[in-house]
Amino acid sequence: MPTLTRDHSDWVKVDSIIESYDAKKSNLIAILQKVQEEFRYLPEDILTYIGTKIEGLSPATVYGVATFYAQFSLEPKGKYIIKCCDGTACHVRGSMPVYTSLKQRFGLEDGTFTSKDGLFTLETVSCLGACGLAPVVVINDKVYPQMTTDAMKIIIDTILDEEHSAQ
Ligand code: FES
Repeated sequence: MPTLTRDHSDWVKVDSIIESYDAKKSNLIAILQKVQEEFRYLPEDILTYIGTKIEGLSPATVYGVATFYAQFSLEPKGKYIIKCCDGTACHVRGSMPVYTSLKQRFGLEDGTFTSKDGLFTLETVSCLGACGLAPVVVINDKVYPQMTTDAMKIIIDTILDEEHSAQ
């Protein structure tokens, strides 16, 4: 195994994902998608491992594929992925103040996208295909239409309350 710090159960999960796709080189993208779903990003040691487990691949190739596609993240992401739409319709109707208020709330410097507590990752997207509801924010799979900074504040407060009461 490439690292001793990772839990054994993590490797069992990775093995079962690889096996569920018959350990085939042609299924690499699907395998990476599943691994990302499981770990919320693609850890480097797991990419290396996949490169040694699948015939016809190397760790460098797997790493190359993972860095090529924008859908893959090599950095840990938060439990809540917040996508602020900044397509034309959303931009015109005020998506940026919502985005900026979240950025400030999470204390994100330029070039950082995940809050220090690991709960939130903030992203912008170009159009979520729901322009009639602009400005739109999606948190994980839930769509929040006609967002304002005040409404966003309440939504984040509610998530934090739920998180704290779950502890
Ligand atoms: S521009 Fe935001 S949903 Fe289309």
